[in-house]
Amino acid sequence: MSVVTWRKAHRFFGLAVTAVVAALCVNASAVHASPGSAEDGRKLYLAHCQQCHGLDGKGDGSASAYLMRRPRNFTEGLYKIKTSQTGWLIPRDEDIFGVISNGMSSSGMPPYANILTEGERWSLVTYLKSLSDAFGSEGNPPALDYSNPVAYSPDSVQRGEKVYYRLKCVECHGPEGSGPASKNLKDDYGEPIWPRDLTRPSTFIGPYTPEALYSRVTNGIPLTPMPQHATVGGETLSAQDRWDVVNYITWLKDEAETKRRNWTIAFAATLAVAVFIGRAWITRLIRTMVNIGKPVQRD
Ligand code: HEC
Ligand code: HEC
Repeated sequence: MSVVTWRKAHRFFGLAVTAVVAALCVNASAVHASPGSAEDGRKLYLAHCQQCHGLDGKGDGSASAYLMRRPRNFTEGLYKIKTSQTGWLIPRDEDIFGVISNGMSSSGMPPYANILTEGERWSLVTYLKSLSDAFGSEGNPPALDYSNPVAYSPDSVQRGEKVYYRLKCVECHGPEGSGPASKNLKDDYGEPIWPRDLTRPSTFIGPYTPEALYSRVTNGIPLTPMPQHATVGGETLSAQDRWDVVNYITWLKDEAETKRRNWTIAFAATLAVAVFIGRAWITRLIRTMVNIGKPVQRD
């Protein structure tokens, strides 16, 4: 094969691969766009979810008694992760889809992104919504307005610290964010609940992005004592205050992580120095231990 023919063949092969990948992507986005059928969702629900959430979705599955947190009762239509515009009680479809995909880290709700296809997860969203009258025929609520975020800066962090104290975040989450400053909180079912440690994002029940934090501060966490902050004491809290406090809790997390890293380094360094200084003594100790139980030689 001449070089020219080889190049042509190569280009043709490249185009063919691109066409196949594009076709697959079109197919994937078609699945994403489809809301999924409630009937498919029901079958998946019975296979994967009813053990915890109960046959009728009331949160009373056979495994629920063994969990630290009560699985959601879907017939109430109340969800903790809600990024809907203020005034809407129901979450957005994307919120429910996000929880099914990513789980709720420290709370016992597992992630299904690697177990169920995107289409299957959307069918579950349709099915869960069909379990509560709260969703009615109003459609998907509009998302919160994230269009004017306040960028992370020392000024914003300083303002955010004042908001953190003025809105009493400190009373529940503690001065360093690592809470729980307030240990006697109960959720709407009368069960004990702890304010999240704001310095450990891996324990969060929702995603950790500035927008997600902004939505959690704005809408609060329904069913728990974590309050909404769209209005406080009858006054509308400015979007700037909410972005500033998001920047402040991000700073608290960065500070705590730096402190933890420095402690680990200091501990490792101290251990290394101790081993170096005491190595003769440690060698003698190990020899003694190895010799324990061996018969003593007599001349
Ligand atoms: C091992 C038990 C368990 C299984 C299995 C389980 N869940 Fe959950 N789920 C929970 C718990 C516990 C919560 C409540 C967590 C909390 O309140 O912090 C929860 C909460 C939820 C929420 C509420 C989200 C919110 O914003 O309030 C949704 C939606 C959900 N689960 C969907 C599902 C679906 C769909 C399945 C099956 C594909 C499923 N769960 C399987 C334990 C489970
Ligand atoms: C009355 C107590 C209380 C106050 C005041 C309060 N919180 Fe919370 N907060 C909670 C509780 C309880 C949770 C845990 C809810 C859960 O795990 O379901 C929480 C959770 C959170 C989370 C974690 C979200 C996640 O995805 O897990 C963030 C972020 C947060 N609070 C920020 C704030 C900020 C900022 C303020 C002040 C503007 C504030 N909180 C005020 C009690 C409080």
